[in-house]
Amino acid sequence: MADNTYELCNEHKGIKEHLPVIEGTQGPHAVDVSKLYRDTGVLTYDPGFMSTASCESRITYIDGEAGILEYRGYPIEQLAEKATFLEVAYLLLHGDLPSSVQLREFEQIIVYHTMLNETLKNFYDGFHHDAHPMAIMVGVVGSLSAFYHDSLDVNDPHHREVSAHRLLAKMPTIAAASYKHNISEPIVYPDNNLSYCANFLNMMFSTPCEPYEVNSTAEKAVNLLFILHADHEQNASTSTVRLAGSSLANPFACIAAGIASLWGPAHGGANEAVLNMLTDIGDVSQIDKYIAKAKDKSDKFRLMGFGHRVYKNFDPRADILREVCKEVLDKLPVDDSPLFELALRLEEIALHDEYFVKRKLYPNVDFYSGIIYRALGIPNNMFTVMFALGRTVGWVAHWMEMMSDPEQKIGRPRQIYKGSPRREYIPIENR
Ligand code: CMC
Repeated sequence: MADNTYELCNEHKGIKEHLPVIEGTQGPHAVDVSKLYRDTGVLTYDPGFMSTASCESRITYIDGEAGILEYRGYPIEQLAEKATFLEVAYLLLHGDLPSSVQLREFEQIIVYHTMLNETLKNFYDGFHHDAHPMAIMVGVVGSLSAFYHDSLDVNDPHHREVSAHRLLAKMPTIAAASYKHNISEPIVYPDNNLSYCANFLNMMFSTPCEPYEVNSTAEKAVNLLFILHADHEQNASTSTVRLAGSSLANPFACIAAGIASLWGPAHGGANEAVLNMLTDIGDVSQIDKYIAKAKDKSDKFRLMGFGHRVYKNFDPRADILREVCKEVLDKLPVDDSPLFELALRLEEIALHDEYFVKRKLYPNVDFYSGIIYRALGIPNNMFTVMFALGRTVGWVAHWMEMMSDPEQKIGRPRQIYKGSPRREYIPIENR
């Protein structure tokens, strides 16, 4: 790579190419294969994108070996300790931390958009009473495109910005209304005197019949959880948003696609699965049995909240959450310490087990988040919704970055066809 090209040789195909090498500000270099097919007729093959950078981005940096996560260059540990979620949202969207005037203006813009169009409420009545809130989220967020026609021109930067603000502002309202639908309570309107996170908690837990005061420990925990989930570069749901957006689909449809992708248990659905798993394990004496199941290749069971495609040393978000979990359980009037003790013990046993050590499997962001959500009174089926609330700003930031790139193209992977060669149609009576 001395001359900043990579020599690709394939004697079988008679290919000898000098491919350009692209360097980021940090992280591994990439070989630019974008013209390989045009020049040689050969494709690259990388299922699961194990070695593929799908785009250039200036938003988030991860070093999986060193356990580093940075938003726009700022370490996650510093943002988690010092920032508010809306400050981080501004950072992700605009590239720099806001001044106090910029932050105040941004907060006012977001507050202005928190309410839903009143007819949107009718959508909730169409869902079965026990619909999973992620199913409701996919439907209601997608339906925003049927309401806000004045911000749907994806080629207009102002429209894009208004849609970004609407998404960020309305997601907590939509999420809390999904929960209220599940428990058959009236939907609570946003209270714009409250902070972003307090407003969400108020819409979740207040009722029209009695006063409700947001607990400051709960507000602080939600602020932190949203920050930790705000972005994670080209994960499955963000890549889904980018791919959907690359066809110039409207942003509400793209974010609905992102929510659908997040729902899977290998991605954001893992936080719900972790709590179900801990409840199933039930007692420290059962841990060995579940570790054995996770190691057994004939058993589909995996230790949920463990392992990550990029982090191969530790997930810095899990380290922060372990501490916060302790703090929240100490301060809130809940008795979930046995569950936390069980999680700690499970982590300790797994981290000393050769199977997990060899494969570099560590607790990820989903391992401790569920215990915190539970302590806040958030039910299991809302955990992935909480992830979606934090991640919305990341999805939107990536969509904005892609849409403002003059080189933006529709995403269109190719395939290795392994099906039948050409054959002639056989009339049904002859088959
Ligand atoms: N329990 C047991 N074995 C595991 C686990 C686990 N949680 N995770 C990976 N492995 C094994 C896997 O069987 C494979 O073993 P072998 O080499 O013998 O075939 C090896 O480790 C590598 O796993 P992989 O599936 O090839 O790795 P991946 O990078 O494709 O998958 C992952 C990453 C996160 C999907 C996977 O670790 C997993 O399924 N974890 C559990 C679900 C989870 O916690 N997901 C949340 C991810 S973090 C937040 C987010 O992205 O939403």
